[in-house]
Amino acid sequence: MAAITETVELEIRKEIALLIVDNPPVNALGISVRRGLADGIQKAADDEKVKAVIIICKGRTFFAGADIREFGKPLEEPVLGQVLEIIDSCRKPVVAAIHGTAFGGGLETALACHFRVAVSSARLGLPEVKLGLLPGAGGTQRLPRLIGPEKALKMITLGNPVGAEEALQNSLIDKIIEGDLTAGAVKFTETVIAEAWPLRRVSGMNEKVEAARGKPEIFSDFRKSIVRKTRGFEAPEACVKAVGASVNLPFDEGLRYERDLFVKLMSGSQSAAQQYYFFAERQVGKLPDIPKDTPYLDIGKAAVIGAGTMGGGITMNFVNAGIPVTLVETGQEFLDRGLGVIRKNYEITASKGKMSAEDVEKRMSLITGTLSLEDVSDADIVIEAVFENMDIKKEIFSRLDSICKKDAILASNTSYLDINEIAAMTSRQESVLGLHFFSPANVMRLLEIVRAEKISKTVLATSLALARKIKKIAVVVGVCHGFAGNRMFSQRGREADNLILEGALPSQVDKVIFDFGFPMGPFVLKDLIGIDLGWSKETSTGSTIKEILCEMGRFGLKSGSGYYRYEKGSRAPINDPEIDQLIVDFSEKKNIKRGEVSDEEILQRCIYPIVNEGAKILEEKIAVRPSDLDVIWVNGYGWPVYLGGPMFWADMVGLDTILEGLKKFQERFGDVWKPAPLIEKLVREGKGFKDF
Ligand SMILES: NC(=O)c1ccc[n+]([C@@H]2O[C@H](COP(=O)([O-])OP(=O)(O)OC[C@H]3O[C@@H](n4cnc5c(N)ncnc54)[C@H](O)[C@@H]3O)[C@@H](O)[C@H]2O)c1
Repeated sequence: MAAITETVELEIRKEIALLIVDNPPVNALGISVRRGLADGIQKAADDEKVKAVIIICKGRTFFAGADIREFGKPLEEPVLGQVLEIIDSCRKPVVAAIHGTAFGGGLETALACHFRVAVSSARLGLPEVKLGLLPGAGGTQRLPRLIGPEKALKMITLGNPVGAEEALQNSLIDKIIEGDLTAGAVKFTETVIAEAWPLRRVSGMNEKVEAARGKPEIFSDFRKSIVRKTRGFEAPEACVKAVGASVNLPFDEGLRYERDLFVKLMSGSQSAAQQYYFFAERQVGKLPDIPKDTPYLDIGKAAVIGAGTMGGGITMNFVNAGIPVTLVETGQEFLDRGLGVIRKNYEITASKGKMSAEDVEKRMSLITGTLSLEDVSDADIVIEAVFENMDIKKEIFSRLDSICKKDAILASNTSYLDINEIAAMTSRQESVLGLHFFSPANVMRLLEIVRAEKISKTVLATSLALARKIKKIAVVVGVCHGFAGNRMFSQRGREADNLILEGALPSQVDKVIFDFGFPMGPFVLKDLIGIDLGWSKETSTGSTIKEILCEMGRFGLKSGSGYYRYEKGSRAPINDPEIDQLIVDFSEKKNIKRGEVSDEEILQRCIYPIVNEGAKILEEKIAVRPSDLDVIWVNGYGWPVYLGGPMFWADMVGLDTILEGLKKFQERFGDVWKPAPLIEKLVREGKGFKDF
């Protein structure tokens, strides 16, 4: 065994050279690995005894990708492309022996080898697109040659990995190794040597790409199939073009084309935003005062109070993680309805083939419905999801305090209410917190963990661990009206409502926000959620557009009309001149002078206050870091990830520009627009949120 670099060793076993890589934690392809591979291949090539080479990694995985710490810096040579060229052109067979994940540059390395074997649990993929990039070391030219352009398009443009079994069927790998990988790979390689298999250089395999030549529909059909999913993103189109080049250009030219596209993406703002976001998501949940080794409680049993929209979804989260739930309602019909919705959701999943009928029953059997609050006495955590009413919540928490076992955690799913006030109803304030799920709670990955004043570190650590278990992205925020997300969101809502009274119409506002990159504008969203949320007939006075619409029975999509109208069975909003007129008349009645509002003003008035409120939230220490707010917005409110999140975006636009805008609107509309002192300070110091 000889060390080639500090991360790569060369071991000669009879006729086979093993290049053994050990670069914990994930064998990223940093400079010492690249150099080790290049020199190792050279040594093996020069050694007459050696007839073949195996590249294999120690630890938990094959190369899981490029070394992301090297991103944005000039790369030391050899760069990965050069290393792969050395592997590719080696005259002796090179075999990649894969376990764990062969991702990104890792899979590109395997593709440059002449054969690939993998253990059955291995996963292979090119996820670069998720960082706003494309595989830039030949992946877009080799993969289509190996598995065909149709399958390569999918893997490269969507960035989702495949398992070993699928990889074998696609000819992405040559063999699945059962048992010890090294022994299996050696045996495979011995056969290659003994039977004198010809080298399979992927760069020279042209059959599959040639078969696709002159068939542009392969690409146009694929583009159509991803158009909705990838709207606004630059990288997916670059991926499609690069795969196109593999079909239409010789390998070397294709490589150059791929490189040009890669460099363009790498220097663009979208990949910067997506890479920033990648790290932002890894940071959330890390709290300065809650070290990693903080002890936490085991959650074996949960209870949910209220089987409505949120309670049902929350229950599903627990059940999906194998945690049994006691679900409490006030009446049998509400309980039956709630359980019915849960069952239907599972049955829909089963009908799509994503779950077996048996699984549906198994999950349903983990739910125990009850009308008695006393039945939650053995739960380790109770989550209240009843109506948004402080009195009801207070009463429930005071009862839970006497019913629940000593160290049970009590959580509220309230959207806006003061968790400290709710906690004060109990004699265990250290165990009370907010767990703010987003709707639909079984789908949305975001969870705001609301850190009530007296919460213990153990309970906070437990809720973070629980969030991981139920596969949520948890962001810890402090107590205030609407916490972080909704508090920022209501700023946009206020301005959208004002804009339509001043001269814009819902369709104009919605188009601006949609074009910015949100999945829908504020009025389509209101129609979708239901305009009647928080409205009651008894107290309605017809003094806002919302109240008027509700009084007309226009509750949104569910009632067939709201700000827009909807054809039966369709979710597509159709402009309704009746509502446009109603809005114009309403402005007149309120003596609001209507005039043309530019798209630019709409955008600034909808987005700048989100940033301003975010800055206030940071000042008040409601959120730990600006990137936490970005994670909330990308995951909870549909902010396009290629714009990073509102705080990242603000830095990109320039905080001085934002400040100037805020001041301009403050002059026109008063102090709701007053710039957050934090923004003033950062601008004064020539800094951004990134320096916070
Ligand atoms: N809907 C959302 O988008 C959303 C998102 C996040 C948070 N929330 C919050 O979640 C909570 C629930 O909202 P929702 O939309 O699910 O409401 P919902 O009206 O759909 O459901 C509330 C359920 O609670 C039941 N309930 C009322 N009092 C009860 C009691 N004393 N004991 C047991 N059950 C009782 C009701 O019968 C009803 O089924 C609210 O605090 C809301 O602010 C809602």
